[in-house]
Amino acid sequence: MSKVSNAPLYVTRTFLPPREEYLHWLDKAYASHNLTNNGPIHRELEETLRARFDVPHLRLMSNGTLALQLAIRALGVKGQVITTPFSYVATTSAILWEGCEPVFVDIDPTTCCIDPNLIEAAITPDTTAILATHVYGFPCDVEAIGLIAKKHGLKVIYDAAHAFDVEYKGKSILSYGDASILSFHATKLFHTVEGGAVVLHDAEADKKLCLLRSFGHIYDEHFCLGINAKMSEVHAAMGMAVLPHVEQIIMHRKKSAKLYDHMLEDKVERPTAPEGTALNYGYYPILLGSGQAREQVMTALATEGIFARRYFFPSLDSLPYISSPACQISRSISDRVICLPLYSELADEEVALIARIVVSAL
Ligand SMILES: Cc1ncc(COP(=O)(O)O)c(C=O)c1O
Repeated sequence: MSKVSNAPLYVTRTFLPPREEYLHWLDKAYASHNLTNNGPIHRELEETLRARFDVPHLRLMSNGTLALQLAIRALGVKGQVITTPFSYVATTSAILWEGCEPVFVDIDPTTCCIDPNLIEAAITPDTTAILATHVYGFPCDVEAIGLIAKKHGLKVIYDAAHAFDVEYKGKSILSYGDASILSFHATKLFHTVEGGAVVLHDAEADKKLCLLRSFGHIYDEHFCLGINAKMSEVHAAMGMAVLPHVEQIIMHRKKSAKLYDHMLEDKVERPTAPEGTALNYGYYPILLGSGQAREQVMTALATEGIFARRYFFPSLDSLPYISSPACQISRSISDRVICLPLYSELADEEVALIARIVVSAL
């Protein structure tokens, strides 16, 4: 068994729709002569996604990081924000950029999402929100988090950067909490090259969000401090071209994930999603017994030109510009986890080869 080509094989590979399909949407942008500022393709993508997820408000953003920042701001979150140490750095940096203080709560080792049993002990009079990540698209314990937030009057923001099309108990994972954000970065299974979105459930907060993403003004009337977080027509065009392929992309990923499951069963530990989840197969994380075993596996793969990634490393409580007590479970998982290559063009032979290298390295 071997790789289909000699090219290096990375953890992901951007899905490119057939060129003529992208050009079809670019032609529309040329015809409208409107390349940004809430143009027709932008409006169409926004409404298509809002309806797809059956949520009351969905706004496109220039990226997932600004989506996080503006969701925090639109909801008036201040002071301390309880958050997860096991996520991409943008989850924490958005809190800091918004002038809030991240308070880390350790994770549940099964899902790798924030452990709701530890949240209440971290709440202080300064706490105003919980910002938790659906890691790998595995849903957080949204019911428990919802109850805690209600009891203590906290806002809940979900970083759903990995959770496009994920459903939990029969509805979009984006239906939970006060806000969810998505990333449409080129590495994600649905993408607009760079981009993102904010889902809100409150009409006032949504109105505020629209102002925030567009400099805080409407024509000559200025309302609040804003920023430029708009998505261009060229980016929205890529989204419209990718969207019809999403089901196929997820099906292919599912097939590869099942093959990995089959070949790695009983050989490696794996984080898992809670029951009731319809997954999007965005990532294939495996958990090795030690940091040394993780290093061994990564080296064996790299020798064959296969580059797995440490998602997520480092545990965010250990960032050099943060002072936080150590979250031991998150640190341990960060040390031992890798995500294996998973994308829509990955061949079965390549999945099998990767799995064999993992097993023999162990
Ligand atoms: C969990 C998580 N949150 C936020 C982001 C930031 O998204 P973006 O790259 O679109 O700014 C990412 C990006 O990979 C992510 O993985």
